[in-house]
This record gives sequence, structure tokens and C-alpha cells, in this order.
Amino acid sequence: MYQLLFRLLFARMDPERAHRAAFAWIRLAARVPVLRTFAAAVLAPRHRELRTEALGLRMHGPFGLAAGFDKNAAGIDGLALLGFDHVEVGTVTGEPQPGNPPKRLFRLPRERALVNRMGFNNEGSAAVAARLGARRSVFRTTVGVNIGKTKAVPEAEATADYVVSAERLAPYADYLVVNVSSPNTPGLRNLQATAALRPLLRAVREAADRTSRGRRVPLLVKIAPDLADEDVDAVADLAVELGLDGIIATNTTVARDGLGLRSQSAAEAGGLSGAPLKERSLEVLRRLHGRVGDRLTLVGVGGIETAEDAWRRILAGATLVQGYSAFVYRGPLWSRALHDGLARLLRESPYATLAEAVGAEARGDAPRTESA
Ligand code: FNR
Repeated sequence: MYQLLFRLLFARMDPERAHRAAFAWIRLAARVPVLRTFAAAVLAPRHRELRTEALGLRMHGPFGLAAGFDKNAAGIDGLALLGFDHVEVGTVTGEPQPGNPPKRLFRLPRERALVNRMGFNNEGSAAVAARLGARRSVFRTTVGVNIGKTKAVPEAEATADYVVSAERLAPYADYLVVNVSSPNTPGLRNLQATAALRPLLRAVREAADRTSRGRRVPLLVKIAPDLADEDVDAVADLAVELGLDGIIATNTTVARDGLGLRSQSAAEAGGLSGAPLKERSLEVLRRLHGRVGDRLTLVGVGGIETAEDAWRRILAGATLVQGYSAFVYRGPLWSRALHDGLARLLRESPYATLAEAVGAEARGDAPRTESA
């Protein structure tokens, strides 16, 4: 049904226009009480067995919407009623900025992928903090806030820019993410080198502690799939050393392996997401888990389309899982289907709770799963 609708309505529309239109409907649904009740009942039934605890937070389930969809925290309730158990807003930068000029978002339908070079278009951390502060939530949902560097700020002054955002946003964040992995802000990914990352993460930790009034906001770092394995290890060790709460793996990739540039969009500059990212993201997650075990909360993202994909990440060590690109191709029922499937996979597994399944693969007791 959605596939048909997608072909009729969205496939011909410019992808960014389609995003704006879909997001407007999602926000509207959360504002109209009758729609809200109906949508929440149909789309977001909560499975008791999927309840989980992560980052010290009690959650309805493990699956959330990855950063980049709701850059300005404008539609958290609408997204929650579609069944996302957490919503990561942002990336938010210190200053407001328009992002790159359009066209900057491309679909690769055959590959079930997207290429984007949005460039952190957002209203800036002051405006987003004001919106979050004024929000009266309709649904109890977990809100992560992802922060990044303002493009005009030189790399050498990046820390101060992140600190401003952390101070403003930490009071409203259930968890905070330092994004150093978007390919669309020049120089940003250099901040993944431990020499730059150590002072940055320390400063953000202190900034969050200064303004969050005694509440310790969990802090995570989001990394690129294009890091060499040794660099993945280095970030993992640093995160443990600094007492970080978790790592999100992964952001989009600049690689185009295996795409064969069949579609013109594959040749566009920017970050590739969706199905082609699946295996590398899983590999990075596995490596992280091998390195840190359960000392950090790992969040798996990149190419997750089905419940089986999400389950594989959980077995590989992810406590939480996220997605974005498949939402475009699978539509508003996606999150529901994924949750229903996950609940079934958990019931059929030897594990009584989701927590027991996390990292089972490394313990050697994971049931076999098929790659979807
Ligand atoms: C993203 N992503 C992203 N990540 C981030 O940390 N900050 C951001 O602002 C954005 N923006 C963004 C825009 C668009 C259009 C896309 C498609 C993606 C990356 C996203 O959160 C996720 O890490 C990747 O897309 C991989 O997951 P999927 O899409 O393969 O499920």
C-alpha cells in the first residue's frame, strides 16, 4: 500500500520536498486529538517484552529514529506516535545555518539507499533549546540531542562551538551525542582523531554537567563507518577512558563500494545511507563490542530495514538500534512492523529479555539469523 502511494505521490517529488510534506503530516497527526489517539493505537502498540533500560533510562523498546530527520526538534510527538521509542533530534550546531545549497538529498531506490549532503541545516542550539524547553510532551518518549560544529567556525575553535550547544541543550536532553562523523561539514571527521576528540569530549562533559542541575546527562559519540579498524579501537578506548556512556555506530559513508555507480545519484557527493551501509555498520559495531564489551552502551545504526536486521545488531552488542533511510522506503508502518518482528524474534529466542540477547553473539550462544 505504502509502496503504491510512494510511487504515486513521493517518487516523482523532489526528495527534500517529500520529506517536508511527510513531516508536516506527521506533526499534524500529533496535534489533532482524534488522529493522535487513532494513530497511537494502530501504529505504536507497545510490546511489554521489548521494554528495556539503556543509558540509565527506561524505554518502551530499543528502536528509535536516527539523527537528521528532525533537525530542530519540531516533531518529536508525531514521530513517537509512529512508534519510534526514542527520537534523536539534530544535528544542532552552535549557530543557525542554512546548510548546503539544494539539491542536496538524492534517492537510490534500487539500492534502497539515500545520498545526502544537507550540511547541518538547522535553526541553531538557542532556538532548539527554546523549543525543547517550551515542549509539553504528549507521549513519554526518550529524546536524544545530537550536536555538531557550525560550518563557519574554524576547526581549531570547534570545542567552544560544541560547548555552547551542550550548555544550552543538556538540560532538555535525555542523552547527548557528539557528532564528529558527518561527511558534509569540512574537517568535522578530523575531530575523530583522539588528540582532538579527548579535549572535545571532556569539555562537552563539563559543559553538560554545568547546566543540567545535578542530573548526569548520558554522553555518547557518533562515529563514521569509514574509520580504519585501529581508529575504531582508539575511539572505543578513549570513550572508556573518559567515562563516556556510549557510542553510536555508524553515520553515513563516503564509500560507494559495490554500488557500481549504476544510478546517477550514487555519484553525488555526500554521505550514503541505507541498505549498502548494512554490513560495514554491523562490522564496526561488532568490533566495538569486542573492544569494550558491556562497559559502554552501543547504539547500532546504518542500513537497518527489518526486525531481523535490528535483531542481528542486538546480538552483536547493540542495546539500542536506530534507522532513517528505510523510513523513506517503507513508510509510516515501518516502526510498527519492526517492533512486531522484534517481539516475535525475542519470543522465539532462548532469551527471556532483550537485555539477555545483547551481545549474545560474542558469548557464542546466539541463535543463527539470516541476513535480510
Ligand atoms: C542523516 N544522518 C545524520 N546523522 C547525524 O548524526 N546528524 C545529522 O544531521 C544527520 N543528517 C542526516 C540526514 C539525512 C537525509 C540522512 C539520510 C541521514 C545519518 C543518520 O542518522 C544515520 O546515521 C545514517 O543515515 C545511517 O542509518 P540508515 O539511514 O542507513 O538507517
